[in-house]
Amino acid sequence: MHKKAIITSALPYANGEIHLGHVASTYLPADITTRFLKLCGVEAYYVCASDDFGTPILIQSERENKTPAEYVSHWNRRDCEDFAAFGIKFDYFYKTSSPENIEFVQEVFAKLDAAGHIYKQEIIQFYCKHDKKFLPDRYVRGSCPYCMAEDQYSDLCEKCGRVPEEITNPKCSLCGQTPTKEKTDHYFFKLKNFGAQLSEWLEKNDGLQKDVKKYVQNWIKEGLIDWDVTRDIHWGVPIPLEEAKGKVFYGWFDNHLAYISTAIKFLDEKGIDGKKFWNSADIYHFIGKDIAYHHYLFLPAMRMGLECEYKLPDYIPTRGHLTLQAKKLSKSKNWYIGLAEFLEYYPADYLRYYLVSINPYSQDDLNFDWDDFTTRINSELIGNLGNFVNRALGFTQKAFDGVIPDPGSPDEMDAEAESKVGRFAPDVRLLLEQNHLDRALKKIMEFSSYFNQYFQHKEPWKSGPGTAACVYNSANAVYCIAVAVSPFLPESAQKIWEQLGLDGKASDSSWNDITYGVKPGHKLAKSAPLFAKVEESDIAKYKEKLGPQK
Ligand code: 2FM
Ligand code: ZN
Repeated sequence: MHKKAIITSALPYANGEIHLGHVASTYLPADITTRFLKLCGVEAYYVCASDDFGTPILIQSERENKTPAEYVSHWNRRDCEDFAAFGIKFDYFYKTSSPENIEFVQEVFAKLDAAGHIYKQEIIQFYCKHDKKFLPDRYVRGSCPYCMAEDQYSDLCEKCGRVPEEITNPKCSLCGQTPTKEKTDHYFFKLKNFGAQLSEWLEKNDGLQKDVKKYVQNWIKEGLIDWDVTRDIHWGVPIPLEEAKGKVFYGWFDNHLAYISTAIKFLDEKGIDGKKFWNSADIYHFIGKDIAYHHYLFLPAMRMGLECEYKLPDYIPTRGHLTLQAKKLSKSKNWYIGLAEFLEYYPADYLRYYLVSINPYSQDDLNFDWDDFTTRINSELIGNLGNFVNRALGFTQKAFDGVIPDPGSPDEMDAEAESKVGRFAPDVRLLLEQNHLDRALKKIMEFSSYFNQYFQHKEPWKSGPGTAACVYNSANAVYCIAVAVSPFLPESAQKIWEQLGLDGKASDSSWNDITYGVKPGHKLAKSAPLFAKVEESDIAKYKEKLGPQK
């Protein structure tokens, strides 16, 4: 672990609301990791931006009779609000259409061009005679030439994750007609030239996820194709060449550069040399598996093309897709739950708890299931953690007037409890460092469950010998939980912190504090239940709202 880190998560398209699928794979894991690193004393910054350019956004703004700039600024604002309500705490949230990013992208292009990594080529592009426009990317749908999946956009096959060279059986996505082909000049990035260097980088970099590496090495073996980085549309970063007037960059040329330009703007404004910081920090890019190709090949190759003037990523945590009630999410079929809508039903921490619990550090898909949600919240979050905290603090209030007693000499059970406290912080830390957020949360829950049983066995309500030690150990276990769980459940951790009678914020403490932090004589504040039960009758309503389940 370095002393500095920059964390990014896939930039959300400024094109519709954030839903559970988005937060499960990227924003939540990145947020938890950043909060954890900060607790460990790392100077960590989580930066993100709305992804403003690209054909789908242009198409949608045209449909809504808005300028693309108006359209994206609406979604940028909305995303910020939704993320904040879910406890996703960016240090900075900006936009790919910022003047800083536009300037940076143009500079990068000029450098790549000067280094011989760009060439111009006349290409034949789909053109719709009916709509009178060139049809890049999402303006065309057809079948994937690799895996034959039907009804895919021409820029990415959602089934196999590859970028088709030319889609089969093309249709204009605006009017459905078969497009014609016309000539136009485009600029290409020589991705092909980077195969060997990419392969070596993948091989050597231990921080990259093993299951994804295998895939990517295969893609390299199959042969890379040069990337057309031009679009004949008016919404994008203009290509900075006289001869290219009216053309813009493909969104995937500029969007990942906003990781760098946004971080640098933020850091420079803080009085930190942004570029120097970037190059001496651990770089994390959190993504969903659908954009692995872009992040494991295209993005590093572009940085290599700049002679690594900006450091390559150390970690690209890549997680699978979320299904809902075992069915693929679909906005058009209304089979999804918006983040803002969910937060009207339940507190953010319920969703954070559930999504982490079901989300391993792998590309495997995960399933949101309302019944499973109910069970996990009621029996784990409330039945275990909530119950233990309430029990330990409530009993201290009742029997000791809220004052932590002197423990006296420990019996065997107390000694075992003490050793559990000693191992807790290093065990959870190791899992978090390895990106196993789900296992780390499980460890916290096991710790809570152990102390629940400890409390039960010690029977402090009988006021026998060892009562004081039990209360002392239990209150301190609650303290350890408050700090350790704060990256996962920031609101609940803060409530526990306050009930412990502590000032400031749980999140401002330190991972090293996860030990005996409440001393004899310390007075607790009032305790109250942390959570309210999930009612099955409510769940039935939410299921019904989604539509027929089968
Ligand atoms: O797939 C997406 O949602 C893109 N908007 C992600 C962009 S990440 C990038 F900037 F690298
Ligand atoms: Zn058309």
